[in-house]
Amino acid sequence: MRTQVAIIGGGPSGLLLSQLLMQNDIDAILLERQTRDHVLSRVRAGVLEQGLVGIMRGLGVATRLDSEGLIHDGTVLSYDNDVVRLDFTKYAGKPVVVYGQTEVTRDLYDLRERTGGQAYFECEDVTLQGMDGDAPFVTFRQHGIDHRIDCDFIAGCDGFHGVSRQAIPENVRTEYEKVYPFGWLGILSETPPAHHELIYANSSRGFALCSQRNANLSRYYIQCELTDTVEQWSDQAFWDELKRRIPEEVADNMVTGPSVEKSIAPLRSFVCEPMQWGRLFLCGDAAHIVPPTGAKGLNSAAADVHYLSQGFIRHYRDSDCADLDRYSERALERMWKTERFSWWMTNLLHRFPGQSTFDQKMQKAELAFLAENEAAIAVLAQNYVGLPY
Ligand code: APR
Ligand code: PHB
Repeated sequence: MRTQVAIIGGGPSGLLLSQLLMQNDIDAILLERQTRDHVLSRVRAGVLEQGLVGIMRGLGVATRLDSEGLIHDGTVLSYDNDVVRLDFTKYAGKPVVVYGQTEVTRDLYDLRERTGGQAYFECEDVTLQGMDGDAPFVTFRQHGIDHRIDCDFIAGCDGFHGVSRQAIPENVRTEYEKVYPFGWLGILSETPPAHHELIYANSSRGFALCSQRNANLSRYYIQCELTDTVEQWSDQAFWDELKRRIPEEVADNMVTGPSVEKSIAPLRSFVCEPMQWGRLFLCGDAAHIVPPTGAKGLNSAAADVHYLSQGFIRHYRDSDCADLDRYSERALERMWKTERFSWWMTNLLHRFPGQSTFDQKMQKAELAFLAENEAAIAVLAQNYVGLPY
């Protein structure tokens, strides 16, 4: 087989890139390790920046997003019972849209099928070859049959645990990482949201987040020990702990119910430099990870795809490699600012093991300053709604 761009990974990064390339008559083949249903079974975050909404609309795949997505003009930060509301539209000029990543992925898979895009599932032993030359190729096995795809470029969209980042030689790669000493225990419940906007809560017992998917599907998280297991947390134990961490008025009025999904995720900050090597380009989680506190995982993947698709389009349309040559530089410049914001939000809102009472006072003072300083709120709001591409 031959294609112009071989895309490794069928998550949001790979799907967004494949459709943007198809829209610009650039041939791409997408290789996914799992089945489509497995990919769609993942529960991930659900806050979309306008940049991603714009890409979805440009692809003509935003009909459901525009009808079912929830426009959020702000969010709430709480410190025990003290509450600060961040008005996105007032301080950053635009809202965010609450719409599950699973639904974004579903819409993109439906679009790929409607447009006849090539996607191979259950691909095993995907290997990337020849990226440092001008004839890269990918080999893989599917249902016991070996395949080879010759291509012009390879896009590594295979997430943190994929093979693409490892294909960049160790003496070329520099990896930056911070692992946080806690996790997030998340629950999905078919209950009405506790509040019409998200609530990010810092409490003496630790972090909590009240989020949502629609009028009868809520998503909640509480900070938990890295050693915790889902089995240790009954639904009742989760609800009791969540209520201890959010403002009393919200806790007293919230509707609880059985979990339809429950999972624990670790938190890390991670960046690989560079995000390209020869004819290999990394996108999304393959290149970087953020703690979910800033809701930037999916949105930073979309920014990478925006830059990389521009590079491929300019290459094939104008025989100009300028944007491809500077892809890593452009993507990393925005990504490090996003890493900073996600790190800052995580430090502001979580209780760290061994944290001193002074450090706790610093968190409280930071939130108190936010409550009274419009410039401080504007900085937070502009980061949360998304930095410009
Ligand atoms: N070969 C083919 N596919 C692979 C391989 C491989 N060797 N390894 C991993 N994959 C697939 C995974 O099964 C997954 O479907 O690559 C895809 C990577 O998708 P994501 O991990 O979702 O990463 P990305 O597309 O960059 O999206 C980033 O997704 O996981 C969230 O929090 C993350 O919101 C962020 C967003
Ligand atoms: C979610 O709805 O899953 C969600 C929302 C905001 C975050 C993280 C997760 O910061």
